Amino acid sequence: MAQDLVAAKTRSAYVLDLISKKTLSPAERERVVAEAVRYWSDHVNAGFLQYRKSVSTDYTAVEWDDEGAVFRDVAGHEFIDMLGGFGIYNVGHRNPKVLKAVRDQLDKQAIHSQELIDPLRTYLAHLVSLITPGDLKYAFLTNSGTESVEGCLKMAMLATGRHHFIGATGGFHGKSLGSLGGTSKAVFREPFLPLLHWTHVPFGDADALKTIMECADFSGDRVAAVVLEPIQGEGGINVAPPGYLAAARELCDRYGAMLVFDEIQCGMGRTGKLFCCEHDGVTPDLMALGKGFGGGVMPIGACVGTEKTWERYIENPFLHTTTFGGNPLACAAAIATINVLLEDDLASRAGEKGEYLLPKLAELAARYPEVMVGGRGRGLMLGMEFVNNDLGYAVAKNLFARKILISGTYINARVLRIEPPLVVSYEQLDRFLSALDESLALAASDL
Ligand SMILES: Cc1ncc(COP(=O)(O)O)c(C=O)c1O
Repeated sequence: MAQDLVAAKTRSAYVLDLISKKTLSPAERERVVAEAVRYWSDHVNAGFLQYRKSVSTDYTAVEWDDEGAVFRDVAGHEFIDMLGGFGIYNVGHRNPKVLKAVRDQLDKQAIHSQELIDPLRTYLAHLVSLITPGDLKYAFLTNSGTESVEGCLKMAMLATGRHHFIGATGGFHGKSLGSLGGTSKAVFREPFLPLLHWTHVPFGDADALKTIMECADFSGDRVAAVVLEPIQGEGGINVAPPGYLAAARELCDRYGAMLVFDEIQCGMGRTGKLFCCEHDGVTPDLMALGKGFGGGVMPIGACVGTEKTWERYIENPFLHTTTFGGNPLACAAAIATINVLLEDDLASRAGEKGEYLLPKLAELAARYPEVMVGGRGRGLMLGMEFVNNDLGYAVAKNLFARKILISGTYINARVLRIEPPLVVSYEQLDRFLSALDESLALAASDL
């Protein structure tokens, strides 16, 4: 497209005016929907509109504002958010305490000088050391989940002098070139091979992990780190079987490898504990955080590590740096998020809500066995498995028509996930359950 600075000036003023509005007139709404779809196609990625199995298939629902466990489209239709941004809205959409912290900070300073010591990064790193299990002590703050994983990989390489990583089938760790190696699905990896040196083993199979670690040790291709999600999110909400994480811990200790837990999706209270690995009482050497860490208001993640994993990095702190990671606005959001999670005891409340939902999902699966296989997960990180992809998609579409957003998982299309804000009310959960009942009935009647 030809450069046109005059047009850019008028268009940017037009969009600034839109941003300043809380509500839109009917004509403005129509225009925003039409423009958003057109610009998405012309300037973001037309393929996404083709391939995306979006539940908003006619694209009339263009999102506009949100709070608590709901969001609204430009026309003011309200949806219960049972997807929760794939696990980012743990403390709710636009939690007031998180907003206040960010606004207070914004009124003083947005981005740090990059040279002096900025206080919020230090307070946040201290808080992270207080809330994480085991002897995790240091935090490198990032802008996203994948960067947090990159940090963990580099720290593991520094700590061990090795570069062989073990991941699990069904694992998802992001899509930048390091973390993509750990992401297990061929379609995402193949065009970019060769990646870092990764080997994948079946998730949950401690014997397979033992075999690969033994062989790697025997052949001298020793393992830098085993990287696991305690509950696989994109893999289809797969809970690590009892004893698996402990076995991984034991094998890492035996063979001098680092154990990395990717808690980007399952952390920050989502599964009923602050961190999912606490269910098993197993602590890693490195932990990756992201998504809900910024309270759904600011993008921020963290690579968190023990004394041992930080030694070489302390010798040369320029081995890993970032311009925006740990900026004051993002840190303010994360500090407020931690406060809300603890003050409101959201982890325990998520655990209770999961216990409320799981038996009801089992009942529904029993009533509609031709559509739904069952439910699984922990806290508010639940999955519903369907007989096939198309049935799952049909149910998601039926739910969307009933003003409930839900979505599948990246690696396992037969599973729809339930990851609402942890503040979702029981009344909203009941509305979801009755809409799910209707949606399953509809899908069954279409068979
Ligand atoms: C477990 C896990 N790790 C890493 C990532 C990547 O995070 P991001 O998309 O913020 O880079 C995700 C994102 O879905 C995830 O679920």
